[in-house]
Amino acid sequence: MGSLVLLLCTGVTCFSAAGAVPPGGDGTIAEPLAEGRERVPTAKPQVKFHLRSTRDSEEDGCPLIIGQRLEGCGFNVTAKTFLIIHGWTMSGMFETWLGSLVSALQEQEQDANVVVADWLSLAHQLYTDAVNNTEIAGRSIARLLDWLQENPLFQLENVHLIGYSLGAHVAGFAGNHVHGTIGRITGLDPAGPMFEGADPSKRLSPDDANFVDVLHTYTRETLGVSIGIQMPVGHVDIYPNGGDFQPGCGLSDVLGAIAYGTIGEVVKCEHERSVHLFVDSLVNQDKQSFAFQCADSSRFKKGICLSCRKNRCNSIGYNTRKTWNKRNSKMYLKTRADMPFKVYHYQMKMHIFSYMSLGETDPTFSVTLHGTNGDSKPVSLEMLDQIGLNATNTFLVYTEEDMGELLKIKLTWEGTSQSWYDLWKELKSYWYRPAKSSQELHIRRIRVKSGETQQRFAFCVEDSQLTSITPGKELWFVKCTEEWRKRSISNLL
Ligand SMILES: *[C@@H]1O[C@H](CO)[C@@H](O)[C@H](O)[C@H]1NC(C)=O
Ligand SMILES: *[C@@H]1O[C@H](CO)[C@@H](O)[C@H](O)[C@H]1NC(C)=O
Ligand SMILES: *[C@@H]1O[C@H](CO)[C@@H](O)[C@H](O)[C@H]1NC(C)=O
Repeated sequence: MGSLVLLLCTGVTCFSAAGAVPPGGDGTIAEPLAEGRERVPTAKPQVKFHLRSTRDSEEDGCPLIIGQRLEGCGFNVTAKTFLIIHGWTMSGMFETWLGSLVSALQEQEQDANVVVADWLSLAHQLYTDAVNNTEIAGRSIARLLDWLQENPLFQLENVHLIGYSLGAHVAGFAGNHVHGTIGRITGLDPAGPMFEGADPSKRLSPDDANFVDVLHTYTRETLGVSIGIQMPVGHVDIYPNGGDFQPGCGLSDVLGAIAYGTIGEVVKCEHERSVHLFVDSLVNQDKQSFAFQCADSSRFKKGICLSCRKNRCNSIGYNTRKTWNKRNSKMYLKTRADMPFKVYHYQMKMHIFSYMSLGETDPTFSVTLHGTNGDSKPVSLEMLDQIGLNATNTFLVYTEEDMGELLKIKLTWEGTSQSWYDLWKELKSYWYRPAKSSQELHIRRIRVKSGETQQRFAFCVEDSQLTSITPGKELWFVKCTEEWRKRSISNLL
């Protein structure tokens, strides 16, 4: 979806920055009339369907036309049917992700029918008009499915609609209008503007299919608009990287991007990430990403939610399992910046003892994981709240590589100041609190839980006599042994 136009929306009025095709009054593009011919109402179908049977992404495929024989296209009525629905368009053409999704589905599901719904003429409009056309497009898809259902071997349960952006809501309308219940709808970053907070019958919702799963990749508000819908709209709603900043999408500074005119690329990258995560789940079956149920993104970032009990974790993308959770289960995960997107999540819990005042500066910690498959890079522990002293602190740590079984953990207190601001803070604290060396904490144990394997381990400080850490210093932890436990108890006595 082009972005500039959206950003120029004020309320419900949008202005086209790209000089997009002027909207036709009835939602179709007015075609120039040939000389001497009268204008007759066109009966041309506004949504076209093509069965993609070859791998050639340049080929349109075989047209499926309601009322015409199916066999000509090689449509297999007993097989699964995927129907891909694109979103709003500024170019009036298919975007390149469509070809990747088609071939990933063909690769993974050899028998399946992969159909592309082309509603370009209805989507290549001012955004508000394209929104208005989503129901028309959805009804056309419902009509196609009803016609297919005339064949008793065709099962609606075998139908999986995959809709991107506005196309997700088109899928919702299709599910709403078809006779019977569609098997599954996947919403790939469903469009937000004019759908956020809308009545369930006016947007994608869990009522539209037996199973509705959603990937949210652009839920950040810019000038009051979020390109992707923020609210959960399915049975399972997954928010990779919190659903806001996607790694690898360049600028994290949105205002800077607006100033430099590159906002379009950032928006496209983050919005379209939903499609690439779905493709990744098809092509990298051996590197499945998992998402974890959590009340909100900040709790997830604190490492609180890495449980798999009672369906609290799920694969993302194509392999998302239908669960019987209550509606709207929000799930979170971290990802890499490109394919394969999988990372390895760990929860780290450590009780941090403090026997002296720390002053106003919060410590910055990083950990390095050493496992049977190698060592990680140092990962900084994200401190969302103030550190809890004489309390157990929980952190989320993730690595791009599979470390294998963890053997050792190095905890580092980043000591030296990294910016002028830090330096200034440090000088100030030096001035007011000359005993800088009083910055000392004690950590005896780190409890680790792997999100991916659900295994738990306890790591104990290597030398039970030396539990203190100070700025610039490090502390090593190894798997706790019975001997360590005995020794540490005798130390306490
Ligand atoms: C049609 O699909 C079914 C189910 O996937 C499969 O068993 C069958 O071989 C397919 N038929 C053809 C002609 O490909
Ligand atoms: C949407 O289309 C209907 C007719 O199909 C029209 O009455 C209505 O004004 C349109 N709404 C917008 C926002 O364009
Ligand atoms: C932590 O507990 C120790 C004794 O158990 C106490 O001396 C110290 O003041 C406490 N630190 C804080 C920050 O409360």
